[in-house]
Amino acid sequence: MVTAGVLISGTGTNLQAIIDRIAAGTLDCRIAVVVSNRADAAGLDRARRAGLATRVIDHRAFSGREEFDAAVVAALRAAGVDLVVLAGFDRLVTRVLLDAFPGRIMNVHPALLPAFKGLHAQRQALDYGVRVTGATVHFVDEHPDHGPIILQGAVVVAPDDTAETLAQRILEVEHTIYPAAIQLFAEGRLAVEGRRVRIAGERRAAGRLLPDWRRGSS
Ligand code: GRF
Repeated sequence: MVTAGVLISGTGTNLQAIIDRIAAGTLDCRIAVVVSNRADAAGLDRARRAGLATRVIDHRAFSGREEFDAAVVAALRAAGVDLVVLAGFDRLVTRVLLDAFPGRIMNVHPALLPAFKGLHAQRQALDYGVRVTGATVHFVDEHPDHGPIILQGAVVVAPDDTAETLAQRILEVEHTIYPAAIQLFAEGRLAVEGRRVRIAGERRAAGRLLPDWRRGSS
């Protein structure tokens, strides 16, 4: 069982996926606190509906990123958190948070890192013309969207995809791989070796993803 603190800024569908897995008994995790830097984040309502403790820590009330992170760290420590889950959290983290939870901060990004870091990754993927994109769960380090990769899932880009339709399919992958990565952490199966994350007992078959480009029958 891992005690998690979830940091959000917005809709909170990844938070919801984690809540649902816990409720279903397939994720050995307790969410001790949900922290949002935005009071109007819809994810806060999801947390409240699930009976979770919530905190709003408005980044604008602080003189800098370190000061904000110090307040977040205090809230996480007060809740007894041992894993920090960034779920649509829109602030860059500083050493203050990283040093407080070394190797114990995860993030999800809507692309196959290292491609399409930063904002609007789905739009970036479409504009670049990739045929396969996806989602990545990774440990957080001092560079944005950079730390060791825990799990990835691929999404085939359709010719008529928009940023919105692509984002929706990527989210479905996020909602699968994020709870799965947390479960691996809870089971103590993740070991970071340089850039690589070793998953104890993993049976990962070599494989290939071949999207079908043939003419349709219609
Ligand atoms: C997700 O696409 C995630 O990859 C990115 O922000 C979005 C958060 O969505 N970091 P939600 O708030 O979990 O619905």
